[in-house]
Amino acid sequence: MYKVLKELKVDLGERSYPIIIGQGLLGSFDLTPWVSGSQVMIVTNETVAPIYLEKARACFPGKVVDVVTLPDGEQYKNWQTLNLIFDGLLENRHTRQTTIAALGGGVVGDMAGFAAACYQRGVPFIQLPTTLLSQVDSSVGGKTGINHPLGKNMVGAFHQPQAVLIDTDTLSTLPAREVSAGLAEVIKYGLIRDESFLDWLEQHIDALRDLDAAALGEAIYRSCLCKAEVVSLDEKEGGLRAILNLGHTFGHAIETYAGYGNWLHGEAVGTGMMMAADLSFREGAISQADKDRADRLIQRGGLPERAPEGMTEADFMNLMAVDKKNVDGRLRLVLLRALGDAWVTAGARPDNLRATLTAFIR
Ligand code: NAD
Ligand code: GLY
Repeated sequence: MYKVLKELKVDLGERSYPIIIGQGLLGSFDLTPWVSGSQVMIVTNETVAPIYLEKARACFPGKVVDVVTLPDGEQYKNWQTLNLIFDGLLENRHTRQTTIAALGGGVVGDMAGFAAACYQRGVPFIQLPTTLLSQVDSSVGGKTGINHPLGKNMVGAFHQPQAVLIDTDTLSTLPAREVSAGLAEVIKYGLIRDESFLDWLEQHIDALRDLDAAALGEAIYRSCLCKAEVVSLDEKEGGLRAILNLGHTFGHAIETYAGYGNWLHGEAVGTGMMMAADLSFREGAISQADKDRADRLIQRGGLPERAPEGMTEADFMNLMAVDKKNVDGRLRLVLLRALGDAWVTAGARPDNLRATLTAFIR
């Protein structure tokens, strides 16, 4: 039997939805109350399917369940792979009443969600995230999409799920490197909005890396709570939501430079957050002690501390020029005003930005 640990809500009026966090949910939790039609299309990948597909099927008793299994990897988060989902939906004659269920990490979730946003001009979908990163971040908030060779997540749509079902037991099969990548996004919430969460993380980061179930449950709950609050206040990123991108401007540049899949998204965000803390310090917003504290926690999360070999200041500047936050050609960055308090600014001094880039290239 399953155990629900916590349930919370993303409050978006008629598009509100629950985030259900628990153990043993895949295989026994009945998701049919969130499925209006008779058809379900599970979208997963070749790594996750052998472990969790049959359990996911069991969440939809009485429904006609079909499956699309995608190749695994960030390098497949593109148009060609997206089309495999539309092929599967059409070949199996899925109608506008179908529900898509994303079973996997953030790559599967972003692509399945984008397919749901587009198929027959939009069908409902459910998130069944199986990585730490997707459980604390990508499954919540309705950002869906794919990469373009010139920029990360450049093509997509806002499309909120009907429900997010987080089975923390799935983390038992996750490789250690992926756990660390997820921890980057967990640490992000402490840095942008909740200093007390940073205190908690400093005490529990080793337990989290050891997959301690109680610590994971708490970290996932506090992360989802933070994300749900921010998304409820600013669904389409008119302002506040951009703080969820701490470290992502540098990080997306790293991911694109390294070639999708070579650096994990969370790894790039980890280094990117160190860069954001470094620049915040150079701008005089946070103290050396605060910067060191952020660095130490990110390092203890097992995340890389320097940009990829060979990446230059010019590479960063060129790749950051296409960031979605930029306005009228001006680079906008999420920086820290204090630990637990982030803001978006176009006002970082160019010499400080150059100094940060110089400090992190090899
Ligand atoms: P991922 O989806 O590539 O999953 C990581 C790896 O773990 C993959 O090889 C996957 O097959 C495997 N895997 C998944 N679950 C597993 C399990 N339980 N056991 C063993 N292996 C498992 O990567 P990710 O870190 O989950 O997601 C990264 C993606 O999420 C990026 O594309 C990023 O842009 C996106 N993202 C989106 C948002 C958003 O708001 N939509 C937020 C953050 C990140
Ligand atoms: N991961 C950033 C966002 O959801 O806005």
